[in-house]
Amino acid sequence: MNVPFLDFTRLAQATADATQAAVQAVTASGRVILGPEVQAFEQAWAEACGVGHAVGVGSGTDALEIALRAFGVGPGDEVVTQANTCPPTASAIARTGARVVLCDVDEASGRIDLQSLQGALTERTKAVIPVHLYGQCADVAAVRAVLPDGVWVLEDCAQAHLATFEGRPAGAVGDAAAWSFYPSKNLGALGDAGATTTDDPVLADRMRELRQYGAFGQSDASGFGMNSRLDELQAAVLTRRLELLPAWTERRRAIASAYRDALAGTRLEPLELDPRAEHAYHLFVVRSTERDDVRRRLLERGVQTLVHYATPLHRLPAFAASVATPVSLARSELLCDQVLSLPLNPLLSDAEVAAVIEASRSVAAGGQK
Ligand SMILES: Cc1ncc(COP(=O)(O)O)c(C=O)c1O
Repeated sequence: MNVPFLDFTRLAQATADATQAAVQAVTASGRVILGPEVQAFEQAWAEACGVGHAVGVGSGTDALEIALRAFGVGPGDEVVTQANTCPPTASAIARTGARVVLCDVDEASGRIDLQSLQGALTERTKAVIPVHLYGQCADVAAVRAVLPDGVWVLEDCAQAHLATFEGRPAGAVGDAAAWSFYPSKNLGALGDAGATTTDDPVLADRMRELRQYGAFGQSDASGFGMNSRLDELQAAVLTRRLELLPAWTERRRAIASAYRDALAGTRLEPLELDPRAEHAYHLFVVRSTERDDVRRRLLERGVQTLVHYATPLHRLPAFAASVATPVSLARSELLCDQVLSLPLNPLLSDAEVAAVIEASRSVAAGGQK
């Protein structure tokens, strides 16, 4: 049996009713930009995240940039993030004019390492971005505890929809959080979309201004802004898909639990689960020193895998010359050489889950670690 990593046609079919209802609602309202659907989604998403405010924007990358700009980050500042994250985390920092500073991660879970973070701080550090990579929350309160007063914390929640840490929703501990609703995300739109969330009304207002030219009105822009509005159609789709998200998340967790049980003690080692975190399982990531060979053998058995991510940021051509690397990034480098992601999404059938398990166990049994 062939198991694709993700099947967008299946996703479109499973959400056809929600999409149709969304299109009808927007067509009937005649409002296509910053109307009732955006407002309704912002309210629903803020509630789902346990915070006071959500601001719909064009993408997760824009959400990161807008939040950083709302903090006042700009040229001369430094922003620290982890070296194994998705490139847009760093692109957003660079787009503000600030310097990207990288720190290392904990080898077992791939989350930000506090000691390494401390080594990367300077008097120019204006903000830190812990990334809830793969859907497992970092300990943001512990991150905050090692920061000097005045350093902002932005949670990159692009992979962490409905994840929690010690019972608190992802995004609720930092000063603000950035979300992506890219179609492959746990909550995905029908195109690009994103949001920022925060409990701080002043930050929320600044982010609303920044997403639209620098101010609400076109003629009274109070400062730098961009055009990064969530549109009505995407908001309408997201509100209706949000109703499906709790059940989808439970399905992700059930599949992940089956994978964990099946792979326990084998040579395909899942990343460590933190008992304080309720994982959203955007990705199910395992490690192997024979990663590329394992991927080839899984594909021979019909199982498509991906790598998130193969190159740490400081080794990407776009960043190699510009990022600061004040601390060792050895664990990020090691993980980037070893990680692979098995197919995991809520629309996988039980037969497909069984096929992934069988192929993984057979590959794990046959190969070196
Ligand atoms: C961790 C992380 N941050 C940021 C982003 C950027 O989100 P978007 O693609 O919506 O701009 C992504 C998306 O892939 C991501 O995974």
